[in-house]
Amino acid sequence: MNAKNGPIVELRQVSKHFGKSEVLKGVDLQLPRGRSTVIIGESGTGKSVLLKHMVGLLRPDGGEVYFQGQRVDQLHEKQWPEIRRHFGFLFQMGALFDSMTVGDNVAFPIREHLKLCEREIEQVVAEKLNLVGLDGVQSKWTAELSGGQRKRVALARAIVLEPDVVLYDEPTTGLDPVRADTINDLIIKLQKELHMTSVVVTHDMTSAFKVADHIHMLHEGRFIASGTADDFRHATDPRVRSFVAGDANSNNNARKLESVSPDGGYAP
Ligand SMILES: Nc1ncnc2c1ncn2[C@@H]1O[C@H](COP(=O)(O)OP(=O)(O)O)[C@@H](O)[C@H]1O
Ligand SMILES: [Mg+2]
Repeated sequence: MNAKNGPIVELRQVSKHFGKSEVLKGVDLQLPRGRSTVIIGESGTGKSVLLKHMVGLLRPDGGEVYFQGQRVDQLHEKQWPEIRRHFGFLFQMGALFDSMTVGDNVAFPIREHLKLCEREIEQVVAEKLNLVGLDGVQSKWTAELSGGQRKRVALARAIVLEPDVVLYDEPTTGLDPVRADTINDLIIKLQKELHMTSVVVTHDMTSAFKVADHIHMLHEGRFIASGTADDFRHATDPRVRSFVAGDANSNNNARKLESVSPDGGYAP
């Protein structure tokens, strides 16, 4: 694989189980450089588990993980920080440190990884907060912020080292539609202006359709559909259709269909 032109991240036949539960059953995924890949699927299907394999927070039971063409799943824990520096991770809970100011939260990765003087740190922090549309909030406590602002601070922190890949785990969950859309716009802006590759895990289809270059749907441990937003809008696989439509009975429908079409009939 050519490291420069190939996918920036690649998963090959990745499988993972916890106890008796087989969460990933041989997942293949390629992240095209500079594009945004969206992963959708029901709650509990392994979307967060999948993301964690990309940054070595979980190791696969089987299969391989590559970053820039280099196999990384077998790396020693000591070698992972060098790989992880290329990633920004917006965790599902957006976990900010509540004992720190906004400025110190955003500065945290800089202090961990770079040797900059305080003036340079202040400058980078201000620049990244500006990028997410928050000026002059450095000295505030995180508790003083709204949910949407907290997400944006977490995002500023995730991108502060200018990573190549940003992983967004449910970035719009818990936000009202207007604030959710601000986050969608930011994901697009960061990708365009900073040429970042993004991976967005979501079950918010408005967000998926807005930010995705490619969408993959995870279902019972496997990808059952992959394509563009338009492919998903016009999907024929009932499991995909019911998920996209937010059908309350999607689980029942999926179960009924399993016997008819175990692999899904949808491959654009
Ligand atoms: N560290 C872990 N130990 C045990 N089970 C886990 C762990 N992480 C995730 N799981 C289980 O794996 C399944 C998939 O979880 P997750 O990836 O968080 O789902 P989601 O698609 O909602 O992000 C769930 O059943 C969850 O309980
Ligand atoms: Mg999750």
